[in-house]
Amino acid sequence: MSIIEKLQWRYATKKFDTTKRLPETKLLTLKEAFNLTALSYGLQTLKLVIIEDKTIRENLVKVAYGQRQVVDASHLLVLCIQNNIDEMDVNKHFETIKAIRDTPDAILEPFKAQMKSTIENMPVDKKSIWASKQAYIALGNLMTVCAVEEIDSCPMEGFMPNELDKVLDLEKHGLSSVLMLPVGYRAEDDMFADFKKVRKQLSETIIEL
Ligand SMILES: Cc1cc2nc3c(=O)[nH]c(=O)nc-3n(C[C@H](O)[C@H](O)[C@H](O)COP(=O)(O)O)c2cc1C
Repeated sequence: MSIIEKLQWRYATKKFDTTKRLPETKLLTLKEAFNLTALSYGLQTLKLVIIEDKTIRENLVKVAYGQRQVVDASHLLVLCIQNNIDEMDVNKHFETIKAIRDTPDAILEPFKAQMKSTIENMPVDKKSIWASKQAYIALGNLMTVCAVEEIDSCPMEGFMPNELDKVLDLEKHGLSSVLMLPVGYRAEDDMFADFKKVRKQLSETIIEL
């Protein structure tokens, strides 16, 4: 399949095959892909929670307004943002750059100071929106990688994040959930798999100047 054929093959899977589990190699691919997502400033303040435990996931069905994908899929990925992003994250990021690239402080310092100032001056609500946008980038990346790897997935924002945070006790980790992505394999009788894609014409979505 070409990349376009794979993206055509992908659809928001409503019914997963409950008997099929993703092999560890595929899970590792998704973990690496998440970690390789390009994020603003390169600051990786997102966390990916991967849940296989069916008992935990059964408790999430209600939180997701009855959507069974969360428990029927092989694994449930939950994209989370940090409740607090501050200069510690910036310091850590620059320590990592230094360790990996051995970049001299003289070069790093101006960037570090600018990044700290931006983050310190960002109001809390704006910071949370900014962080959430990063989660959507990771979601898009994961969905595309799933398509390439022929892993079925369903992007989900149809759930109560505060309730989900309580069930998973995300506060303990200083995290808040933003998005979910159940991943696995489509059920043979998921009628949505045969639906034709509904998309506008390229002429309606693209402007070439
Ligand atoms: C951010 C986001 C949130 C979504 N939330 C849900 C959801 O909660 N439940 C669901 O069944 N589908 C959800 N969808 C799936 C979309 O409805 C679907 O991707 C869209 O209709 C296009 O269809 P396709 O993905 O099958 O091509 C979501 C998609 C995105 C990108």
